Amino acid sequence: MKVAVYPGSFDPVTYGHLDIIQRAAGLFDRLYVAVLRNPAKQALFPVEERVEMLRLVTSHLENVSCESFDGLVVRYAQERQASVIIRGLRAVSDFEAEFKMASMNRSLAPEVETIFMMTNAPYSFVSSSIIKEVASFGGSVGKWVPREVEERLARRLGGGGGQAR
Ligand code: PNS
Repeated sequence: MKVAVYPGSFDPVTYGHLDIIQRAAGLFDRLYVAVLRNPAKQALFPVEERVEMLRLVTSHLENVSCESFDGLVVRYAQERQASVIIRGLRAVSDFEAEFKMASMNRSLAPEVETIFMMTNAPYSFVSSSIIKEVASFGGSVGKWVPREVEERLARRLGGGGGQAR
């Protein structure tokens, strides 16, 4: 049984994430999508709501479980008997941080392999941060996030719009 974990902040989940989740779910027997509980990082959505949104948008994928985790991702992978950590790569700008993380994770747990999946072209510039910024100014983000997420963004951010001065 091949098990993988796909860790991240998912604040909130985007179609870019969902694309990686769907493709990874086709490659592994079980995929754990895992939201890091990170008190050091200011998030828009509480961890429980991020997990709930992930569950909503992956409910059609039988071999996918969504949950939160604490601490080291390699320890979490070991607990779930996962041999693979999945990460999505968008542009070259992602590379350096991902290289550092994968190298550190390999030194901590050599038996856990990090596998990178290239994000599909239409989502190559989509990040949770840019979505939050656009939504906070009232821009439409329906192309990049599922409807449930778009609605929650609107509720939380209001989408005040702007005015020329
Ligand atoms: O979506 P993100 O914010 O890019 O995800 C980053 C994440 C959660 C994958 C990363 O911060 C992480 O794995 N944190 C857990 C702590 C850990 O294991 N650190 C050592 C790896 S450098």
